[in-house]
Amino acid sequence: MSAIRQVHGEERLRTAFTLYPYAFDQTPAPGADEQLRDILPFHDGNHTLVVEQDGRTLATAAAIPAHQNLRGNVLPMAAVAWVATHPGARRQGHSRRLMHRLHADMLGTGHRLAVLYPFHPSFYEKFGYVGLPANRTAVFAPEELSPLLGRKLPGEVTCRRIDEGFDDYRAFHQRLLSLRHGFMYTPHYRARRALATPDRWLAVATVDGQAVGLLTYRIDGYGGRLRADELLYTSALGRTLLLRFLAEHTHQVCQIEVTVAPDEFPETWATALTVRTTAETSYPTSPALMARLLSVDALRGAPCGPGRLEIELVDDPLLTGRHLLDGTAGRIDVTAAPGAGEGAVLTAAGLAGLAYGVLDPADVVARGLGDISDDAASELRKLLPGRVPHAFGRG
Ligand SMILES: CC(C)(COP(=O)(O)OP(=O)(O)OC[C@H]1O[C@@H](n2cnc3c(N)ncnc32)[C@H](O)[C@@H]1OP(=O)(O)O)[C@@H](O)C(=O)NCCC(=O)NCCS
Repeated sequence: MSAIRQVHGEERLRTAFTLYPYAFDQTPAPGADEQLRDILPFHDGNHTLVVEQDGRTLATAAAIPAHQNLRGNVLPMAAVAWVATHPGARRQGHSRRLMHRLHADMLGTGHRLAVLYPFHPSFYEKFGYVGLPANRTAVFAPEELSPLLGRKLPGEVTCRRIDEGFDDYRAFHQRLLSLRHGFMYTPHYRARRALATPDRWLAVATVDGQAVGLLTYRIDGYGGRLRADELLYTSALGRTLLLRFLAEHTHQVCQIEVTVAPDEFPETWATALTVRTTAETSYPTSPALMARLLSVDALRGAPCGPGRLEIELVDDPLLTGRHLLDGTAGRIDVTAAPGAGEGAVLTAAGLAGLAYGVLDPADVVARGLGDISDDAASELRKLLPGRVPHAFGRG
């Protein structure tokens, strides 16, 4: 009989980690054991579960205790990762049991949301997850931004190696967590991976000493590419300062590649900018993030229009029962509903699509994720209007 248990510290090396090289890497590979020991500190606070039988590890799954902004509320969020089953034990329900247990454990420690990068979305939709919009990659030559070079702007950009500015990097991420819907913030023990191989520059845009923009990047060679991570800013001026800084690399690199939010429009950054902006999702190598609610309480306090509706949650072990969502005071209040009233029936994935603002009620119905009347749909549009989550937050 197999059993699930939590593992900690170095015990991970003999249990959960034995499944990682086969599931996630080139295999067989010499030196894999030492590499796993090196990454052990970055798993320190993870909630790591294993399925064991006769002392053998058959399957594993983990959750990183993180935070995410949902419609302005910053909530504890479980970042699910490292889901793997031994090839000889697949299709026996081990991952299914682990996912349910992981969700229950993380909810038990106060986590209201969960996210993951799926190997395939069909697998995780059954566990209540819905896909979020993928970030875009903008590619352009630095001289395309040259109109910005002559502009006098009330701010500056400084550039250091990431290990020299790590505290500023973390502080800016934490600030964006409170400002942007969908933004994620990882725990310190995991974010410190950026210091293990400090292969990034950190550019920080400041105005009156206050950080307003941040970009990490590396340059892959003279005449090559400047490969930037996420373009992060708190104001349009912060963005323009960073873009002008990128323009300073004209005739040093041929191309600039930068990750931008799904609702960013690089073609508007300068007059006649030639740019290619793309998002490619493919599985398992280039997945878009998926997310779900672990508790309907995650919606409490979210700013909204004056809607009011009873919802019934179905087909999920955690999200069950009838709830009244009342937005008449301008913020969502969630209370147990007496039942029998007109309302909407939602699966966990349907609720997630509405909560994150990525599905309209009509999409929920069309995709078989709920049953919503026209009246209920118009209440839901007031309570949970469409939003674009910025699933940013490297580390
Ligand atoms: C993906 C993986 C973890 C599945 O583990 P498993 O223990 O075989 O999964 P389960 O037996 O619990 O299957 C649960 C459900 O998913 C389905 N499923 C399993 N593997 C699947 C696959 N590769 N593709 C689509 N659906 C799959 C099962 O049919 C089952 O469906 P059901 O609930 O309708 O019966 C395992 O194949 C694996 O380790 N793959 C390599 C590593 C990987 O991709 N990990 C996921 C990272 S996000």
